[in-house]
Amino acid sequence: MASEAHDAHARSIVGTSVITLDDLSIAQINELLDKARYIDTHRKDVAHTCDGRVLATLFYEPSTRTRLSFETAMLRLGGKVIGFAGAQLASVTKGESISDTLKTVSNYVDVVAIRHPKEGAALVAASAASVPVINAGDGGHMHPTQTLADLATLRSRFGRVNDLTIGLCGDLTFGRTVHSLIETLCRFGNVRFVLISPKELRTPQYVLNRINATKDCSYVEVSDLSEVIGDLDALYMTRVQKERFFNEDDYLRLRDTYILDEAKLRRAKPTMAVLHPLPRVNEIAKDVDDDPRAAYFEQVRNGMLMRMALESSVLGDELPGFDAYVNK
Ligand code: CP
Repeated sequence: MASEAHDAHARSIVGTSVITLDDLSIAQINELLDKARYIDTHRKDVAHTCDGRVLATLFYEPSTRTRLSFETAMLRLGGKVIGFAGAQLASVTKGESISDTLKTVSNYVDVVAIRHPKEGAALVAASAASVPVINAGDGGHMHPTQTLADLATLRSRFGRVNDLTIGLCGDLTFGRTVHSLIETLCRFGNVRFVLISPKELRTPQYVLNRINATKDCSYVEVSDLSEVIGDLDALYMTRVQKERFFNEDDYLRLRDTYILDEAKLRRAKPTMAVLHPLPRVNEIAKDVDDDPRAAYFEQVRNGMLMRMALESSVLGDELPGFDAYVNK
């Protein structure tokens, strides 16, 4: 499989549901990256882009960043937000199906963001909805808008998202952000992945297959972070996903396998970027936060900007001034 990085033309994504980033072409993803950069420097110009629109956030699983940034994104574009955070507050507790919930909510809003603990739930939601649905994380499967934030951060640090050696460290089995990011970077092509995990938390075979099928991407699997940190352009740390373990003892044994601290960072390149989708538990020590290589709070900000770009794009609401800016 060749990369699609050379695609230049972005067709409109109005009305598109985004369940994985495979729903968007590379040209469309690049356009979203351009829009996010534009939004960042033209906040006032875009403040009424989505006037009159309503977003529903249906979160059946806990979230801080994703839900609040989806909501802030719509508010900053002039729209409004409804929704629930926690399945216990919704009619799912009375036995309502996702399909019925989405058929109902489609009558109220223009776009939906959904997070659910079950893989495939966002796809079921999109099939039932009559408005665009954006996957805000489905179980251990995919988290496409986190990947958009990750790509924006790589691009702001390196001016590109590929031709890089990227280490992914921690829970590579259950970390949906890792799966989304690897699959998308394979589409850009020319990435060397260093997959750092204990043997119990290795990358799923379907993700490795995707790398293997991409002509100009490669991977190695290792368990020692210190051994490889000096080779990396970017290091993507992850939390061990307690909520997806069947056995508490396994979680306790594995949770502190990797702790990135200033001592370990001394072996890294001075330009290496440290990313983390957050929340973190212990895997990045606080002393790393002030290091210029720490990019994880930049990533949070990029997440909101990318969600602003995505929400306005699936709604077909044009950002005033963007066309002139991008064609300059
Ligand atoms: N990165 C991320 O998905 O964070 P939340 O779980 O807080 O939304």
